[in-house]
Amino acid sequence: MSTAAIIPAAGLGLRLGGEAPKALREVGGESLLVHAIRGLRAATAADLACFVVAVPPGTEDDVRKLLDPYAGPVALLIVAGGAERTDSVRLALELVPEHGIDCVLVHDAARPFVPAEVIERVVAAVRAGAPAVIPVVPVTDTIKRVDAAGLVVDTPDRSTLVAVQTPQGFEPTLLRRAHNGDTAGATDDAMLCERLGVAVQTVEGSQDAFKVTRPRDLILAESILAERRT
Ligand code: CTP
Ligand code: MG
Repeated sequence: MSTAAIIPAAGLGLRLGGEAPKALREVGGESLLVHAIRGLRAATAADLACFVVAVPPGTEDDVRKLLDPYAGPVALLIVAGGAERTDSVRLALELVPEHGIDCVLVHDAARPFVPAEVIERVVAAVRAGAPAVIPVVPVTDTIKRVDAAGLVVDTPDRSTLVAVQTPQGFEPTLLRRAHNGDTAGATDDAMLCERLGVAVQTVEGSQDAFKVTRPRDLILAESILAERRT
């Protein structure tokens, strides 16, 4: 049995700014998407059989040419993404093979430096029987709930809070069922499984799995890459 990796890469990167869509922005001379593909391939225990990459409509051919040399023996499927991240994931999921896949990973192109151990931990937990698995790290800020007027409602106990990363891993049938339901307002795929009443398992994530969101994040990304290249 093998793993399929869905890579939502169709976002515009409005918070990052710049000319190109975020997934095609470069760090150390290579796009975030190329770094993400390389990172997934480094997780050899995941037994990757296929990548399904959701890209901005109209960039399919260019992205296929860009990624081809990095996919190696892993099948590379490209699909035009949708308006929201969940739309892009749903469209990509339609191309995941029906047979021979025991784990579907969903991994943001905007997280270029996830360590192989994290990816392998997620896949191992799915293979051990957890239907939905997410990598998490502790939160360092105090988090408060606020109302529309900006008044604090309450302060959840920080020791019970975690920040969620990708790749998230799923038993394939569950992920299909989750995306067939109501996806409105979902900011990750695990949330859709929670809506079905499915228990979502957490595993240890990594600070290196941070998401490139704002311009300063590119500086952190450059420094992680420089550290790895020495
Ligand atoms: N994504 C996608 N399709 C969308 C929106 C987002 O495939 N319609 C992808 C992005 O390309 C990214 C991941 O989902 O890899 C996480 O989204 P986010 O960090 O929000 O990226 P963007 O939506 O591109 O950025 P922004 O919200 O700042 O515009
Ligand atoms: Mg976005």
